[in-house]
Amino acid sequence: MEQVIAGNWKMNLDPAASRILVQQILIEIGVVRERTIIVFPPFTSLLHVAEIARNSCLKIGAQNMHWERKGAYTGEISGLFLTSIGVEYVLIGHSERRHILGETDEMLNRKLKTALDIGLISILCVGETETEKEQEQTEEVIEKQLHEGLKGIEKEVHKMIIAYEPVWAIGTGKTATPEQAASVHAFIRKNLKKPSTILYGGSVKPENAEEIMAQEEINGVLVGGASLNAAAFGQIARVKVP
Ligand code: PGA
Repeated sequence: MEQVIAGNWKMNLDPAASRILVQQILIEIGVVRERTIIVFPPFTSLLHVAEIARNSCLKIGAQNMHWERKGAYTGEISGLFLTSIGVEYVLIGHSERRHILGETDEMLNRKLKTALDIGLISILCVGETETEKEQEQTEEVIEKQLHEGLKGIEKEVHKMIIAYEPVWAIGTGKTATPEQAASVHAFIRKNLKKPSTILYGGSVKPENAEEIMAQEEINGVLVGGASLNAAAFGQIARVKVP
């Protein structure tokens, strides 16, 4: 299975700062060839970052898109605009969009369908909140997110990437133990109609990346905070797995 290291910059870095970071990352990852490495800058930085990364092995992703291709959707971005500037990946259903912006599984399902149609590779994020974990609802929550998110496109899941990101682990410094994460990954895999790359996300840093990536069930990581530091992101990208 393909190994992926993805860096989600979230709402950080203006174009000038993004240019600097991507240049530093390109130096860091110069030698990494065996993994797919993707960065997800904010929309205003995408074009700048895409231009700098052109002809390199670094791939570019967007943090969101709308499900329609064009029209009266003030403030939204079409997936076609993204592909037109060399963006190849898109995050769909990050927990911050689900929980802060109110995105529903039905909206995410539409976005996934459009992304498939226009040739963008989606990273569909799933994961339980702290309360859901305490109430032992992790599997139920993830099963619903997968079932509703992938409705009608179950057989095309191999063209996407799934990211398991427990909400309680995002930006909190808490991580699932590698074994906990691997067992949820196995559950996700069982629920998919076709084999797909499954990433782990939630407070991944150079110190814990190795033990996470060492799990056979885990095909890579989606990194938030630590991806804003080129040296840390580079270290994660170069982690050796047995
Ligand atoms: P974090 O974010 O690494 O800062 O926890 C991960 C994410 O939100 O994708």
